[in-house]
Amino acid sequence: MCGIVGYFGPSQDSVKIVLEGLKRLEYRGYDSAGVSFIDQNNHLKVYKKAGKLDNLKEELKDKDIVARTCIGHTRWATHGGVTDVNAHPHNNDILSIIHNGIIENAHEIRAQLEKEGVKFKSETDSESFLELVTYELRKDVPIKEAIAKSFKKIHGNSSFVVLYPKTGEIFAIKRGAPLVAGINEIGSEALVSSDPYALAGMVHKLYFPEDEVLLHISAANHNLINFYELDLTKTKRYLSKKQDLSVQVSEKGEYEHYMLKEIHEQPELIRALTQYYFGGEGYESLTRVAKLKPERILISACGTAAYAGTVAKDFFEGINRIPTVVELASEFRYRNPIIKPTDLGIFVSQSGETADTLAAQAMCKKSGIKTVSIANVEGSTLFRDCDENLLIRAGVEIGVASTKAFTQQVLTGRLLSAALSGKLDDAEYRVKLAAKFSLLAERVDHLLVHSEVIKNVAESIYNKKGFFYTGRGAYYPIALEGALKLKEIAYVHAEGYAAGELKHGPIALIDEEIVNVAIIAPELYEKTISNIQENKARKGIIVGIGQAEDKEGKRLSDYYIPVDFNGLEELAPLYVNVVNQLLAYYMAKFKGTDIDKPRNLAKSVTVE
Ligand code: G6P
Repeated sequence: MCGIVGYFGPSQDSVKIVLEGLKRLEYRGYDSAGVSFIDQNNHLKVYKKAGKLDNLKEELKDKDIVARTCIGHTRWATHGGVTDVNAHPHNNDILSIIHNGIIENAHEIRAQLEKEGVKFKSETDSESFLELVTYELRKDVPIKEAIAKSFKKIHGNSSFVVLYPKTGEIFAIKRGAPLVAGINEIGSEALVSSDPYALAGMVHKLYFPEDEVLLHISAANHNLINFYELDLTKTKRYLSKKQDLSVQVSEKGEYEHYMLKEIHEQPELIRALTQYYFGGEGYESLTRVAKLKPERILISACGTAAYAGTVAKDFFEGINRIPTVVELASEFRYRNPIIKPTDLGIFVSQSGETADTLAAQAMCKKSGIKTVSIANVEGSTLFRDCDENLLIRAGVEIGVASTKAFTQQVLTGRLLSAALSGKLDDAEYRVKLAAKFSLLAERVDHLLVHSEVIKNVAESIYNKKGFFYTGRGAYYPIALEGALKLKEIAYVHAEGYAAGELKHGPIALIDEEIVNVAIIAPELYEKTISNIQENKARKGIIVGIGQAEDKEGKRLSDYYIPVDFNGLEELAPLYVNVVNQLLAYYMAKFKGTDIDKPRNLAKSVTVE
């Protein structure tokens, strides 16, 4: 989704700094990029181009740019096509703005302003905010007031950064969309962004403003960043924390893609999670959540995170016997779901910024129940809005297709289930659980070392017409997630199905061009084998993922990926999921797609 970066400070290289920030946000998905800045003659300059950031850099290459204040944007089109004109910043002779989100009443605002003679240049919703603020400024309303007044008039979730050329100052504001500001150690430079990762290594302290807090970045005040309510009184409605992200942590290193790097990080992250949750902060948060003693759990999330929630449901129901409902946040938020006072809302999200997940959380909060996040980004909107937070400690995830976050989300769910069963203080239980996590890490390590087998299978099947991933029980969400990974990065039609359900329709599609990636788990083994036979009888290509010694599974499969389920018990689905991650990765690689930035997708979906 749209990326935002703004710089205010003494450096004359502000454009370079902003471009570096935007580069780091490329992973979020975008289709155009632009910057605006105040040049040495105090003139506003704007450059924007459809396409990759490199197009914009090419345009700027031979320009002799000296600029102190700069704002920049990567756009993910919602209103209006992918064109240079629709790219941000949007500008007139008074203001320049960048926007992330959707202005739901943009059409009405535009119509009203057009009646007043305002001319619009683009087809975007964003420009209506630009002209709304400008309209106020032309009536001599002071800038802060003009922004606050205009912001009250717009509907929907958005964040904005406004560059005011008259004073060279920057303003920023948000509602339900990500926004973070930061200052360097000596307090001489301030940056704003839609993602703290863009500011890694550039700022020392981060500020996460709450909704409808106006940030004013100016050298005229004692503090570089000042925070105001919409009535322009000063406010402390923001969270501040030390910036602890380093750029190095998020570099690709020896790996060809971030996705591969992130798949490889999993064993270490799995091992580290029990350490975090068995002591200190992690333990405290798990204990607090367990004390809520929910009678029912409502899980809401989107995409991969929703599938992680579905695996976790099995823990809460299977181990804790707590009825658990998992629902896609985009559906949950618009239904009239039953929410009882004794329910606990759990929201799973890597970014903590997914618009639908935030709305589902807000709905639960409004109905008075406690809400808990299982999230990766500390300080994200979801993190701040929930009563309690269980961090998944996955580190920065850059690959758009989520991999390590899924594993950590499920494992955090497993740890919560341990806390809910009151066993977290039982030393023997802890040792056993840690050993199980460790065994999972070991098996994943082994898979990674022997990934050649998976690569070979990928090479044989990557150009087939369609894929059905099948699994039963806890492997059903793994089948769904496996198919999602393949769709996301290899652009091929894939579906996840409960193995027993294929015969109720989809089997009509099976022929010699369709692959069935079948998870042959020890549970319900015979039933799974029968389902494979049904597909094989219709000439489907079978890729079996099963126990190394399973002769029958191997015999029925055209391609076989041997695994070792022994001892992993309820964590085994995560292990199989890594097979699926690698299978999707290699198929995409053979197809030659843009694995880390697949077309049309965004890492963090901040619009509905
Ligand atoms: C986007 C991403 C997916 C992700 C989903 C939910 O669609 O491309 O990979 O699973 O959003 O994101 P979240 O940050 O809430 O986990």
